[in-house]
Amino acid sequence: MCGIVGFVGQGNTKDILLAGLSRLEYRGYDSAGIALYSQPFTLVKAVGKLEELKKKVAADKECQLPYSMGIGHTRWATHGKASEKNAHPHLSMHKEVVLVHNGIIENFAELKNFLQEQGYSFYSDTDTEVAVNLIEYYYRKDKDILKALFSVQKELKGSYAFAIMFQEDEKTLYAMRKDSPLIVGKGENAFYLASDVSAFLDYTKEIYPVENREILSLSEKEIHIYNKNAEEVHRSSAIAELDQSQIHKGEYLHFMEKEIFEQPKVVKDTLLYACNQENEETAGNAGNSEYPEFSYEAFSMTEKDFQEISRVRVIACGSAYHAGWVLKSVCESLARVPVQVELASEFRYNHPILEKGELVISISQSGETADTLAALKEAKKLGAKTLSIVNVKGSAIARESDFVFYTQAGPEIAVATTKAYSCQLAAGYIFSLLLAKAKGKISKEETRSLTEELFLLPGKIQQCLSFDQEILPMAKELKDADNIFFLGRGLDWAISMEGALKLKEISYIHCESYSSGELKHGTISLIEKGSPVIGLLSQEELAGKSISNIHEVRSRGAKCFAIRMEDIAIEEEDFAHNLIVPKTHPLFAGSLLVLPLQFLSYQVSLLKGFDPDKPRNLAKSVTVE
Ligand code: F6R
Repeated sequence: MCGIVGFVGQGNTKDILLAGLSRLEYRGYDSAGIALYSQPFTLVKAVGKLEELKKKVAADKECQLPYSMGIGHTRWATHGKASEKNAHPHLSMHKEVVLVHNGIIENFAELKNFLQEQGYSFYSDTDTEVAVNLIEYYYRKDKDILKALFSVQKELKGSYAFAIMFQEDEKTLYAMRKDSPLIVGKGENAFYLASDVSAFLDYTKEIYPVENREILSLSEKEIHIYNKNAEEVHRSSAIAELDQSQIHKGEYLHFMEKEIFEQPKVVKDTLLYACNQENEETAGNAGNSEYPEFSYEAFSMTEKDFQEISRVRVIACGSAYHAGWVLKSVCESLARVPVQVELASEFRYNHPILEKGELVISISQSGETADTLAALKEAKKLGAKTLSIVNVKGSAIARESDFVFYTQAGPEIAVATTKAYSCQLAAGYIFSLLLAKAKGKISKEETRSLTEELFLLPGKIQQCLSFDQEILPMAKELKDADNIFFLGRGLDWAISMEGALKLKEISYIHCESYSSGELKHGTISLIEKGSPVIGLLSQEELAGKSISNIHEVRSRGAKCFAIRMEDIAIEEEDFAHNLIVPKTHPLFAGSLLVLPLQFLSYQVSLLKGFDPDKPRNLAKSVTVE
């Protein structure tokens, strides 16, 4: 949610900033802007996707001059609508400071009052303009840039990553962060700054992570990092683990398509990660009984930690919340430990009661989601032990948790999650299996057979990639629907929630997921002639009941579609389309059912002429509550 970039040194500043922003566009695409160091600063902003800014920059003569320092921003609107005046970079009233911001200044109203009393006036509705003026206020008072930044750090509440330029200092780019991501890259006679390493990976892989509450100054050849006590910190650089191929679309049309296709690999990587080994040979070979064992350490926990768990509470948002429902089903079934799943945005306001021995699990791709982070902090305050299942290494949620499991999805760039969700499912299975083992709820043989089944999943996910084309006739039939219903019971219901969300977020069709049995208690009144209903059928013992519920809607005119596991018997003529996923253990069926659902949403989005990677109104990491 909002991406920032900065550059100082030898290079084509304008092009480097724009290229960086295009890698960060997944973080928001309501508006974008850049500021180049000149006297006065050169600022260009545009509403809409980055393309609009690029056009403006190309047409601007000033922008074609050489510059050796600049900052840029791509925005997901929070304070103030998406307009040019609210777009970043923001300039201070006396035009001495310019900055870009990712985060939320929570006490912006009181700071604004204070600044107004000091004679400051404001042109935008943003909290960021308050921050830039506060910096200028202290800078004018202290007559020292670093001193001013430390003063401001003490005043600001909320989260921020800032890249800042001062009119006085033509050679130095400043930055500071708290609870919003920021990373530095070192090039040849240059430094890069960004919310995410992908922004400068085409130029350098040498990085400096920036810790919370640190302030930085960067020039062509030097980096200085100061901790919150204003002491200089000496830090060695590291090499980014990310590979360039991971941030390019390659042969694919969209990141979403690429990410769906990556699922066999990343699920396998997640399984292997959980074994603390990377032996490609032993995993996934059908019929090979030499499967590795999952280890408690992958969750940075011990067997005793697992044994002490008496209950589990999952807190998460969106698709990660849906993954929590799958974890609940699997964990309760295997480990017989009660699991409660809560929307992170509701958790704090539900007067949460946590019992001794209750483990709170936050699930998050980005590790940045504000609602999840806030719920996690609340759980810690209440004395809970916390585990996070997170995709982004070193992210705020990972750092805040007692224990961490890193899913191995790699960078996920499409706004709608696919591969990270699949890895979250895998993490949930592994957690449940280990908990069952630690609690003595399953035998060695069962553990082995379930582990084997899990290692067969990547191969079966691979088979499901054929739905890419197989789904097309169904996608064509559904593309003009106004409402689509998704039905399932138990685990199928959990997966149907994800199917409905995926389709609605990128095709803008209203979709609802219902537990099959619940439909007749009200929602069935919405069913009329031709209403599309997609039934998920993978749970042998529940399929009969779900099929009866499908008959109930069919007899009221609904057009029914089935996505089912091999061996689940249906009357094919009852369904307009009938898609079959390979057989697996019913507890893991969701990992296969979700593939046709992902392809369905992707294809419908394409058929409707939308950009599946950048659905309207959305951004990838939601860092506001
Ligand atoms: C849907 C989607 C969102 C996220 C949610 C949580 O496709 O991606 O619903 O799952 O915003 O995000 P993370 O997992 O980053 O906490």
